[in-house]
Parts: sequence; structure tokens; C-alpha cells
Amino acid sequence: MTSERAAHWRDTYTQRGDAEVSWFSIEPTCSIALIDAGGADPGRPAVDVGAGASRLADVLLERGFVDVTVLDVSDDGLAHTRERLGADASRLRCVVSDVLDWVPDHRFGLWHDRAVFHFLTDAADRQRYRDLLDSALTPDALVVVGTFAADGPESCSGLPTARYSPEALAAELGAGPGSGLRVVAQRREEHRTPWGAVQPFTWLALRRE
Ligand SMILES: C[S@@+](CC[C@H](N)C(=O)[O-])C[C@H]1O[C@@H](n2cnc3c(N)ncnc32)[C@H](O)[C@@H]1O
Repeated sequence: MTSERAAHWRDTYTQRGDAEVSWFSIEPTCSIALIDAGGADPGRPAVDVGAGASRLADVLLERGFVDVTVLDVSDDGLAHTRERLGADASRLRCVVSDVLDWVPDHRFGLWHDRAVFHFLTDAADRQRYRDLLDSALTPDALVVVGTFAADGPESCSGLPTARYSPEALAAELGAGPGSGLRVVAQRREEHRTPWGAVQPFTWLALRRE
């Protein structure tokens, strides 16, 4: 499955420019709003899972985050980021891995995921993701996740997607009384693709406690 995923995303990135994909966003506005709402500490390690060519890494570096990891199953999206950042790219740790196979070598105070969790349509994969969150987060970490909303698209880039209300996403990520994860902020976004289609997103910031 991992090599199929990697091939699928490699093809997607090679068929279109980084600003021509449906999820392109010139500014990671919602990500930053939720990172700010959750009060992420720039002194703690941060990871963007399924980062692709997202500009979030640029913003985190500009904001003084000292330890930024960008992870993706395909190196092709990350290559755009390295090219864009030039010499500053050396300040990033780039990891090419399926997030479900990843064994991080340190823990993170900020975990960010825009439009990756919603591709996990298999319950066992979502459990694996939750297990990874458990092992990869520092005790007071902030988790920021954006997925398609309940009225969002049923597929993206030819792959089926799960769609979430804020409550369903919180439950799926394992938040709740006594669970160790608490929702601290939420948002709805109406993302516009480069060709003007609207894609509703559900965003959550969750604090580990
Ligand atoms: C819809 S794009 C979003 C990219 C980026 N987060 C953004 O907001 O611009 C999904 C990204 O996740 C990556 N991806 C998909 N499934 C993955 C997985 N299981 N593990 C790691 N990366 C994955 C893809 O290669 C792609 O770069």
C-alpha cells in the first residue's frame, strides 16, 4: 500500500505544477490561525505530516520555530519546498515516509496535518495514526488537523476521502474526557481550488494534557 501511495502522489505532483493542485494555498491561513489559537511554542519541535509543497514550513521558519520536520510519502512535493526555500531548506528536516510507517526519532510539541488524515478511510489506518500521535507527542503538545468537512468532497486526486464534522473529527482523533486530548479551537474553512471550486474543511486544534 505504501509504495502504491507513493507512486500515486508522485504521479500527481509530476502531472501538475505545485500551484495547480486542488489543495494549493498561497498562505496557510487556517493552519496559522489554529496554531496561534492553540499557543504553539516555537521552541518545541514541529512536524507537518503530508506537507507536500505547503508554505507552512516557510511560515514556521519565519516565526522562529527552531526544529521543523516536513514529512511526505512522496519526495516530489517536498522538492518544491526545498527549491522555494533555497539555503533556508537546510533548516528543515525532510522525511520521505508514509506517516503510517514512520517511527519518529524524537517527540513533537506541534503536529500539523492539512488534508492527509481524511485519506485514511480504513479504520485500522486511523488507529495506527492515533497510536502514532500517542507516541510522537510531547505531554503538552498541540495537534492541528484540517480535513474535508461533512459536506466536503467525497474524493481528492482520485482517492476516496472521509468527511468530518468537528465532533466526528474530535472523536476519530480520540479526544474526549480522560482521553488526554482536548479540543481548544475549531474552524470551518471554504477552501477555493485554483479553478474556483469550493471545498469545505473542518479544522481542529487539540491540546494534549
Ligand atoms: C492533499 S495534499 C496536502 C498537502 C499539504 N498538506 C498542503 O496542505 O498543501 C496531501 C499530501 O499528503 C501526502 N500523503 C498522502 N498520504 C500520505 C501518507 N499516508 N503519509 C505521508 N504523506 C501522505 C501526499 O503526498 C500529499 O503531499
